[in-house]
Amino acid sequence: MNLKHIMQYTINKHIIKVQIEGKKSFGKPIVLSELDDNLIKNTSWNEKGFSILPFLNKEKFEELFLGLRKLVINNLANIGIPVEPNFKLEDYHKVIRTDLLHTNFLNEIKLFSANAFPLSIRLIEEKISEYCKIPLTCKNPLTGHKVFHIRVVRPQSNDNNPLHRDVWIDRLRNAVNIYLPLAGSNELSSLCVVPNSHLWLESEIERTMEGALVNGRPFTVPAVTDTVKPLDIKRPSPKLNEVLIFSPYLIHGGAVNLNPDKTRFSLEMRFWRV
Ligand SMILES: [Fe+2]
Repeated sequence: MNLKHIMQYTINKHIIKVQIEGKKSFGKPIVLSELDDNLIKNTSWNEKGFSILPFLNKEKFEELFLGLRKLVINNLANIGIPVEPNFKLEDYHKVIRTDLLHTNFLNEIKLFSANAFPLSIRLIEEKISEYCKIPLTCKNPLTGHKVFHIRVVRPQSNDNNPLHRDVWIDRLRNAVNIYLPLAGSNELSSLCVVPNSHLWLESEIERTMEGALVNGRPFTVPAVTDTVKPLDIKRPSPKLNEVLIFSPYLIHGGAVNLNPDKTRFSLEMRFWRV
């Protein structure tokens, strides 16, 4: 059986073509977000599945940004790449010049414990709780872990993950997600989402069954290979100190960085009902 598929999609008139390998299938005629705890159901943007909202006050955002930049700089030093204290995150690809170095760096920053968060994480939990009108925590009820992620997508690279729903991984169900731009995030690079797709039937989406090889790179999350409805992909592009809150039941990802010379950095976190 041929397990290689070409997946083609369009972002703002840019045609993206990726090769996806893995056994694929359409799902059952069920809407997962209706069966699970849909944490955005009390919001005015439940139909759309995402919203861009103001994040922190200026001082707190500055503290968060500088703290996260320091984390990046410390981890660059850990892999033998010291940079100046005023290093710009968007210049990452100018110091990380090979895929091997990039992989080494990703291994260092794979996942951070909430203890490493530069602010009281409660501040973030309260802000997202306020927006979802539900008390939330970043503690995953299945793993008991409190974590955050820094994502890095180099310009004109295959660093981005494929189009997917997080909730195809059980431990990521019943949550709400945030994407916070840190550097190089704009209409050419920010996270892609398919509005309203969190309300689609599983039988309207064809996907790989277990993870996927995308352009030869392995991903733990299954990848979308086809859809019954058209994939109307949007790049909402929050500005600095704005947060994109979105349902993990939405089809999202596939966010190739089309900037010619800017690496994209973002903070990503998930929240569950307290
Ligand atoms: Fe995701």
